[in-house]
Amino acid sequence: MGSPMQKRVSFPFSAIVSLDKLKLAILINAINPKIGGVLIQGPKGSGKTTAVRGLTDILPRLEVIKGCPFNCNPHDASNMCEKCGERYRKGGKLPIEERTMVVVNLPLGATEDRVIGSIDVEKAIKHGVEALEPGVLAEANQNILYVDEINLLPDHIADDLLDAAATGWNVVEREGISVSHPARFIFIGTMNPEEGQLRPQLLDRFPLSVSVERIVTVKDRMEVVKRNLEFETDPEGFIKKYKTSQDEMKTRIARARKILPEVEMPEELLEAICKTCLDLKVDGMRPDIVISKAACTLVAFENRSKVAPNDILVAAELALRHRTREGGFLEPATPEEISKVFMAKVKEVKYVEETKTYERVIESLESFVSVLRVTQDQLRDEFLKTVNYIMNHIWSELYPYGDFSEIRILVEKDYVLQLKGRRGWVNVDLVSGGERSLASLALRVAFSLAFTPNLRWLILDEPTHNLDVNAIEHFGRVLRDRMENIIDQVFLITHEERLSDYITGSIYRLERDKEMDGVTKVISS
Ligand SMILES: Nc1ncnc2c1ncn2[C@@H]1O[C@H](COP(=O)(O)OP(=O)(O)OP(=O)(O)O)[C@@H](O)[C@H]1O
Ligand SMILES: [Mg+2]
Repeated sequence: MGSPMQKRVSFPFSAIVSLDKLKLAILINAINPKIGGVLIQGPKGSGKTTAVRGLTDILPRLEVIKGCPFNCNPHDASNMCEKCGERYRKGGKLPIEERTMVVVNLPLGATEDRVIGSIDVEKAIKHGVEALEPGVLAEANQNILYVDEINLLPDHIADDLLDAAATGWNVVEREGISVSHPARFIFIGTMNPEEGQLRPQLLDRFPLSVSVERIVTVKDRMEVVKRNLEFETDPEGFIKKYKTSQDEMKTRIARARKILPEVEMPEELLEAICKTCLDLKVDGMRPDIVISKAACTLVAFENRSKVAPNDILVAAELALRHRTREGGFLEPATPEEISKVFMAKVKEVKYVEETKTYERVIESLESFVSVLRVTQDQLRDEFLKTVNYIMNHIWSELYPYGDFSEIRILVEKDYVLQLKGRRGWVNVDLVSGGERSLASLALRVAFSLAFTPNLRWLILDEPTHNLDVNAIEHFGRVLRDRMENIIDQVFLITHEERLSDYITGSIYRLERDKEMDGVTKVISS
């Protein structure tokens, strides 16, 4: 029969020297029983058994239904034995008992009856599960099931454990009678691989695995010796000495349990976990799930709130070191391989995240650009309205005849300047030269006035370019007779000698010897 390990004689967990990975693997199981266990491999005498036994003193409290031989969980109706389930359904108040979680040892030589329980067939027909004499699996429900030298366990016992570990139930069948009870336990196995390998089915049942390394520093080895001698000489005194650190560890576990549900796993890291498992060709989905559970638990143990890449690396090594890949054709991934693939995936996912950020920036820039365009259109419309208003105002001054009553500029594909005749609007390139020159003068003046509302001077550079004689004369007359109503002064720069007849102010003649590339000189005024 399995028995909870004796508290008094355990070497304190916190007195174990080094072995950090092993301790961590055990502790995260104690914090989060849903992880489900760990396989510890290592050479003989490396502290495997000591670490598991040491756990006894720091385990948290748990609640069971009082009097139930199967340690049923009072808060989980779907995982109660037949009797507790019936009491629960009838609405009876289930008495709760608080206990400390225990490590239940499964001895190598245990018979099947001792493991799964023995059944009195006669009694079972009448009383169901009550006829079951509970075995190790009953005791292990909600607790830790420890199998030392698990690689040496007889196959039929290993099969019973496998079934229970897979389903969370222990089913006992005898002569057509079947009774069952919940058997959900944290499964811890230890083994020395030199003494034989573990069956792949059993291996895969372990959510995590850890290889205990030899302690290689003399200082640490001396410390191991000293502590062990001290413990042997005065166990109680030694336990007292480590009481504070044991209590601290208990508090830490309890606090981690409390904050665990709040730990956040960033979406991109979860994506990196799944990509890593896919890339490493790990079999099944268990690894992805257990890595994320273990990483969150690790974070809770360190009193943090959000998973970081390094937590996943630690969890992934624990979860993948024993798992074959590609249906068993590939050896388990090495820590280097795991780290390399995972870091590449983190970068990939981060890159995708960054790209998404840039896309968002581009998107908002694009909407900024379209807002600018709309603003630009509106400003141009407003500007043209002003220009048109001014042009029409001065048009009647510049053009006293009746042929064209209005002028406007508008945007079609390009800017178009138009005059309104008797038959409607016409583009200025279709009217006579004189009218065209006045229209363009009106446009220049209006543009200048729109930009500079208190415009006093206007400079006209070659305004009669390409005009015929009539048009030049017409333009000259307007310049002379009408411009003064609009502008104080006009500076005219022109090659057109004929315009000198219309000038009311000063005329300066400028000349330059083009052949000699000479400077421009004022020759008369
Ligand atoms: N890191 C350690 N810190 C303290 N004591 C240790 C450590 N490693 C080993 N020991 C001590 O060494 C002895 C052997 O350890 P243990 O029985 O746990 O080894 P094991 O790995 O279970 O070996 P086996 O495979 O032979 O069962 C124990 O007395 C234990 O207290
Ligand atoms: Mg051992």
